[in-house]
Amino acid sequence: MYRYQPKSKEDSLTASFEHDFAQYMGVKHAVGTNSCGSAMFIALNIVGVQPGDTVLTNAFTFHAVPSVIEHARAVPVLIESNREWAMDPNDLDKKATETGAKVLLMSYMRGHVPDMDAIMKVVEKHGLILIEDCAHAYATLWNNKLLGTFGEIGCFSTQSSKALSAGEGGIFITDNDEHAARAVLYAGSYERLWMKHYDLDAGLMDRLQNQVPGYSMRMQEVTAAMLTPQIERLSTIKKIHVDNWELLHSLIHDHPNIEIPMPLPEVDPFCDTMQFHLVGLSRDEADRFIDLMKQEGIPMQIFGARRNARDFRQWEYIKAHQDELNETIANIEFACDLSMQPHLTQENIRIMAQVIQDVLTYIGEQAH
Ligand SMILES: Cc1ncc(COP(=O)(O)O)c(C=O)c1O
Repeated sequence: MYRYQPKSKEDSLTASFEHDFAQYMGVKHAVGTNSCGSAMFIALNIVGVQPGDTVLTNAFTFHAVPSVIEHARAVPVLIESNREWAMDPNDLDKKATETGAKVLLMSYMRGHVPDMDAIMKVVEKHGLILIEDCAHAYATLWNNKLLGTFGEIGCFSTQSSKALSAGEGGIFITDNDEHAARAVLYAGSYERLWMKHYDLDAGLMDRLQNQVPGYSMRMQEVTAAMLTPQIERLSTIKKIHVDNWELLHSLIHDHPNIEIPMPLPEVDPFCDTMQFHLVGLSRDEADRFIDLMKQEGIPMQIFGARRNARDFRQWEYIKAHQDELNETIANIEFACDLSMQPHLTQENIRIMAQVIQDVLTYIGEQAH
């Protein structure tokens, strides 16, 4: 099960998964890790983040992301998200100017994509190093370019309910030979085990071998065995998600209590989850909506309620600019989050839409 147990890279399921995923993404290197958090932590180390440095990241994301910055003993500065839950390029520009930060760890939370042209302009203007958190952004494109290929490093999760899923696991991708060499070593390759990877430069490996610590963050063979067949299924799964998302959207988007902000036209999304804002409901009514949906067998959450780990106000371990993030608060307060697993049929989706409408009608009746 250990990735370096097989005699050669040709025999290693992990090496072969890395090779296939790199090809799928159109990049030179993929390195398997034991989580996306590990991939992001390794990335921060590789780009030279030091204790006390500022790292820019999303105010709206999962707490694993600021946690990784804290793990590197750096200081996260949170950037506002917009109505469609993606990073606001203007706030990024403002905070890059204010802090002089050199690294942006940008998360495409729930697959929401900011205006990448505007983001990349800010990245260039401030000379930021961009690391992309693509845990929720497999097979997602901006102007036909895959997310994960915009920055120096892209990081993916293969934990539960991810598009590639194996219970745990992560993937680090890059076009940079030296970043790849360091990632292999940080993940925990020692002696000459790096020879059981594809596409590494022997001279580089010999030079870096004893300079980089090993953090034991390797992917294991069983994980890779589960993941490899899922790569070629991604396009089929995406089609199911997109069809289901569009159907659900068509059935509920014009309900007076529902607002579904649409992605920008440049985005080709994966659509494995749906988010919508509840409008015209009180806090109690919104909470009641979630309770009733759960009772009906359709569990949902509201990002900005009930100690949700996607609400930055819960991240007490970071001292960030929390008071000023009014946009993000407004955009998560009534934001419902619905997982749409690929086994759902169009009939299931119709029933879900009906239940959502019935529950909202019931809540409306109770209010009168
Ligand atoms: C947006 C986002 N980024 C990163 C992670 C971390 O992934 P992992 O659990 O593989 O470390 C998660 C986990 O769900 C996530 O939701």
